[in-house]
Amino acid sequence: MAKTDQLLILLIRMLLVLMILIPVSSEEEETKNFYIVYLGDGPSSKGVAVRKHLSLLSSVKASEHDAKESMVYSYTKSFNAFAAKLSRDEAQMLEGGVTGDFVTDSISVGAFHALKKGIITVASGGNDGPSLGSVSNYAPWLLTVAATGIDRQFRSAVKLGNGKSFSGIGINTFGSNEKFYPIVSGADAAINAESKELARFCYDNTLDPAKVKGRLVYCLLGEFGADSVVKETGGVGIVLESEQNLDTAQIYMAPATMVNMTVGEIVDKYIHSTRSPSAVIYKSHEVKVSAPFVASFSSRGPNAGSQHVLKA
Ligand SMILES: *[C@@H]1O[C@H](CO)[C@@H](O)[C@H](O)[C@H]1NC(C)=O
Repeated sequence: MAKTDQLLILLIRMLLVLMILIPVSSEEEETKNFYIVYLGDGPSSKGVAVRKHLSLLSSVKASEHDAKESMVYSYTKSFNAFAAKLSRDEAQMLEGGVTGDFVTDSISVGAFHALKKGIITVASGGNDGPSLGSVSNYAPWLLTVAATGIDRQFRSAVKLGNGKSFSGIGINTFGSNEKFYPIVSGADAAINAESKELARFCYDNTLDPAKVKGRLVYCLLGEFGADSVVKETGGVGIVLESEQNLDTAQIYMAPATMVNMTVGEIVDKYIHSTRSPSAVIYKSHEVKVSAPFVASFSSRGPNAGSQHVLKA
């Protein structure tokens, strides 16, 4: 949090400087503009960084005196950069020194130019979580946002023929009249032996309509849309098992609920423990939860571009 605050203060300071200095011109020289030259992660020593900034700037200026005159600010805390008054030619000469992703990523480049004009860009960190290092849009001049949850969850219970009931997640508006239907495992409803591994996930064209018709199907979450596959194959609904996204309610096209692995294994065991397994999926209801929280699918840090700029 402290680093984010620091960065914000830096950004605000940049904005203030920008507003004061753009455009800068003087009578005898060609027009000079304000540029931020970004050099990467925060340096270990402020002194060394400031000297490096001056020496870099000197390399495109007539003298060190000129360099000192045109230097506006050295950033040495969260990242290594300096702001200076430069002609277009001088800026182009310095461009070779800029690093990595920040200059090849179009959002980063666009946001940088927006910031130069006093506009801050707010961008999504991405939906590739919860694995670490998955955050995108991590340039220091971007305000990166995560996805949060709301204070309600949508849950729908599944009750097995043996009377045991479990809570799953998802938006399921289908009332199945509390009627029990036969339930089959996707793996057991495969079209043939070869497709058994894929049928476990109820992928398209892997299920045998004759084995699915009129039944609920228990599937592992592979890709979203398995509820539609089951419905199109003639099935009634789906019990999805997933390790992830259990805080994120999907909207289903057929009676469906998403359960965790523990419950999934119980359902699978039950299916194979009786001659005519059955189950019922209930309509969703709302449950209050505490919020906000970072959604599990939201991308996580650390920041791949700069370890010293805290993102997500
Ligand atoms: C799995 O889900 C059930 C039903 O919602 C819950 O009681 C149980 O704590 C969950 N188990 C894990 C490991 O999350």
